[in-house]
Amino acid sequence: MPIDSYDSCWLRYEPVDDEELLSSYRDRCEHVYASDSAPELGVVREELNRGLEGLLGRAPHLWNHPPRSADGFLAIGLPDEMRPISETVDTDAVRSLDEDGYRIRSVTWEGVDCTVITAPTDSGLVYGTFHLLRLMSTGQPIDDLDIVEEPANANRLINHWDNPFRGKVERGYAGPSIFDWERLPDLRQRYFDYARLLASVGINGVVVNNVNTKIPSREGANEAVSRRAGWQLLESDNLEKVEALASVFRRYGIKTYLSVNFASPMLVGDLETADPLDADVEAWWERKVDEVYETVPDFGGFVVKADSEGQTGPYDYDRDHAEGANVIARALEPHGGRVWWRAFVYGSHEDRAVQAYNTFEPLDGEFHDNVTVQIKNGPIDFQPREPISTLFGAMPETDLGCELQITQEYTGQNVHACYHVPQWKEVLEFDTYADGEGTPVKDLLADREGQGIAGVGVVGDDPNWTGHYLAQANLYGYGRLIWDPDLTSEEISEEWIRQTFGGDSTVVETVNEILMNSWDASIDYHTGSIGLMHMMYNGSAALENHYDPSPEEWPEYHGASEDGIGLDRTSSGSDYTGQYREPLASRYEDPETCPEELLLFFHHLPWEHELADGTTVVQRLYDNFFAGVEAVKELRAQWHTLEGEIDDRRYRHVADRFDEHVLQAERWRDTIVSFFYDYSGVPDEDGRVPLEA
Ligand code: GCU
Repeated sequence: MPIDSYDSCWLRYEPVDDEELLSSYRDRCEHVYASDSAPELGVVREELNRGLEGLLGRAPHLWNHPPRSADGFLAIGLPDEMRPISETVDTDAVRSLDEDGYRIRSVTWEGVDCTVITAPTDSGLVYGTFHLLRLMSTGQPIDDLDIVEEPANANRLINHWDNPFRGKVERGYAGPSIFDWERLPDLRQRYFDYARLLASVGINGVVVNNVNTKIPSREGANEAVSRRAGWQLLESDNLEKVEALASVFRRYGIKTYLSVNFASPMLVGDLETADPLDADVEAWWERKVDEVYETVPDFGGFVVKADSEGQTGPYDYDRDHAEGANVIARALEPHGGRVWWRAFVYGSHEDRAVQAYNTFEPLDGEFHDNVTVQIKNGPIDFQPREPISTLFGAMPETDLGCELQITQEYTGQNVHACYHVPQWKEVLEFDTYADGEGTPVKDLLADREGQGIAGVGVVGDDPNWTGHYLAQANLYGYGRLIWDPDLTSEEISEEWIRQTFGGDSTVVETVNEILMNSWDASIDYHTGSIGLMHMMYNGSAALENHYDPSPEEWPEYHGASEDGIGLDRTSSGSDYTGQYREPLASRYEDPETCPEELLLFFHHLPWEHELADGTTVVQRLYDNFFAGVEAVKELRAQWHTLEGEIDDRRYRHVADRFDEHVLQAERWRDTIVSFFYDYSGVPDEDGRVPLEA
């Protein structure tokens, strides 16, 4: 394989410099007895070669039988495959672990100290191997291990918003797509490296193309059938390209999925309708899906964006979303495939927040067993902070998926540092009260075969993969968190830092503080932290920006007027509050009990309405916007203390970004506080607003 010329992210495998650890690692891992019965196990061997060579300074001796090593060895295999495993662990217990689960254990076998990694499936062995390498890369002892891991979420997906053939990634800020559809089925080294990165954090599914399978054009997307677009991946000629990518991902236990257009029977086929109740449409999907599985036998399934932002959907045929999803699901079912049907539907309602629930909640129980309704974390669109979507907990008879955004569409793109894991944690920990108190989103999603989490992808062809170097922490953190939502944001960031920048305690603490404070800062200077959002510049449809501030563009999202600000989503307004279960509905309904950080999302309040501590709404907004900028300056100052402590290239990259980040945060602050002042006419108590000319 060609040499990796890109950043290796958290899989750097730098030499272990602690002598004691090094010697204990060597004792345990210089000899490896690894099964080679399945393709994934080739991956295990390759990764051990690479990882151990880096960490321990020499590649391990790989054996096909127990090595005669006095110091012990590492044994990796299925429970009954090798004696060092079957004679030291409870094999029944291992076989009963969830798919993808694994066990790592320090044992004594025939008088020598060994480490065993075992799992019910080959993919579990891949995850277990990455786990052991992670322990060594983060400087943990490995001589007394007894680890049992099972992923909380069965489906752990990345949704690429890559537009095939065009090379562009929608909301991608790290260069063009890594997938070169013109050259596929020829493979690039990058595909293997990407699969390694994903598998190392437990991702098991990749949707390779954008949910916008036709690119909305200014004139109206439905009319404009683009020449080369995502919907074409279903064409017979392109399936071998899909299979080529799948052949890389499957070695790492990752399934390949496609986003498809609801109107495929007309676009890809030559039918005159895509009506889900039409018999020819049903037969077309069946034939097409059979063909897909003939080419890609372990294909994962389809993601569909329908009736939203110009994409065709069941509403075009007066059908509902269950009817729309089910026709595709029936075709996939005999092959074990799944439809991820997005709940991102809006258009006709005055308040977009209420729409997804109104569309989907009445359909609970109507979806076919192999449909997952994929819900964005909040009711608007990946804003820096939103309340949690009311659909979580509202559809007990339906498999649900949560969609998060790894790419930083609204949190500063490739310029601002913003660690998203605390935001996702907030989503997953949110108590929906679906089954009484103590029903957090994470529990609703966990442990159901058809459920899981999908993250909008972040990588592009930039040498550092993610545009902003620190954004690698979001890709890493996404995988780790959805594998185990009980990990803290800080545990995850610390793991990432140790593997990425090494274990020096000053570096670890400093970068950790930067990451952990970055989201709060972003909410402050993008929104003022009391429930406002969506005040960014959009631009023309072809030139969507979502980066610069532009509050005057979006009156319907912030409700600013001379008498106040915020939106009434209570029972006297759009009644979004009424979609929550009690006690949440009452809590949000009353401005006195509504959490301050969401106040203006639910209430339109006078500018000088007093908050609990006596500060007025407008003053709190001013204070938070100014605090946000100060916080970013502090992040930059902390980063500057790392000069000379980490390599210059990465130091400079982030330092330059921070200079721009500060300027942009100031721009946001100045634009938005001036906007508030223009409406409210209330000056800042500290004399900062109106701004000096
Ligand atoms: C947002 C985003 C679009 C995307 C859409 C979606 O509106 O800006 O680029 O297509 O969400 O999730 O479908």
